[in-house]
Amino acid sequence: MSAFPAFTAPLIAWQKNAGRHDLPWQQTRDPYRIWLSEIMLQQTQVATVIPYFQRFLARFPTLQALAEAPLEVVIEHWAGLGYYARARNLHRCAQQLVAVHAGKFPNSAVQLSALPGIGRSTAAAIAAFAFGQRSAILDGNVKRVLCRHFAIEGFPGQAAIDRELWTLAERLLPESDIEAYTQGLMDLGATVCTRSRPRCGDCPLAATCQARLGNRQSELPTARPRPKLPERRAGFVLISDGRRLLLERRPPHGVWGGLLVPPEGEAAAVLARLGLSAESRHDLAPLKHTFTHFRLTLEPVLCIVKPAPTIGEPGMNWITIDTAAASGVPTPIRKLIERIAGDAG
Ligand code: ADE
Repeated sequence: MSAFPAFTAPLIAWQKNAGRHDLPWQQTRDPYRIWLSEIMLQQTQVATVIPYFQRFLARFPTLQALAEAPLEVVIEHWAGLGYYARARNLHRCAQQLVAVHAGKFPNSAVQLSALPGIGRSTAAAIAAFAFGQRSAILDGNVKRVLCRHFAIEGFPGQAAIDRELWTLAERLLPESDIEAYTQGLMDLGATVCTRSRPRCGDCPLAATCQARLGNRQSELPTARPRPKLPERRAGFVLISDGRRLLLERRPPHGVWGGLLVPPEGEAAAVLARLGLSAESRHDLAPLKHTFTHFRLTLEPVLCIVKPAPTIGEPGMNWITIDTAAASGVPTPIRKLIERIAGDAG
């Protein structure tokens, strides 16, 4: 038995009873078919793969036939599946098997993983399905199942988490029924433990699933950490005559295009540009705002000017403070205006 019979036994029983058994690459131990299906199924869904798999096999019925075919013909039969490096590696792998391995697939995952296009997880799947070898698979779907079931925290793309998952996947392996277990993990990940809205009511492992028990299915696996956004700062000068606020219409394109915003820049320079002098000036608390591509710290300064002059600059508008917040200003500017609406009026 596995070190985790509570995980493996229900999964194996479920696969035998409710899993997929009639896919065109099942019910065979032919490593050529199993290898071909596993390569096609990398990054491609079962329903898409099935017709390609059948056409491909009709044209290249044996490993020998594939190895002897011109690469262009192989690519032609791959056209539409995408990720064409897979087709080139497939062809190279077939030629290498014929040239170096007498046209026979090696039967261990370690040897298989040395061949072109066969990574560690694909090697394990081929070894399990074609040769009954106990080796661990760990593709994206399986990572999701394990992260949820065992509440593994951290982004699985991180090297340390990846190592932890491989170690766990190997410790979980059952002593027998490796084919049903391996297919069960794949079936569960593809049909029940889906990325969004997993069907926990149909899951054979629900009773012991840490994510389900903690209602954390949507938090696990942990998402890729967001890249740190660049930080910028900008001064905004809130110029008021006590009753109104001076706002500038932004050009139609760019940040806050077309919206009304207080003049941007250092207070002294902005006042000089507008031919104004301040009776008083107050530094207000900075405000942070996150854009798609950067984080902005707004550094607002309130300047009271008197008497209210006419501003010759184009695009400048005196707006009553009470109505300014609702006059088509961006959110962080609205927050600034709401802050001063109480005390500047
Ligand atoms: N995805 C990867 N390998 C698979 C397989 N053997 N069956 C179904 N889906 C898969």
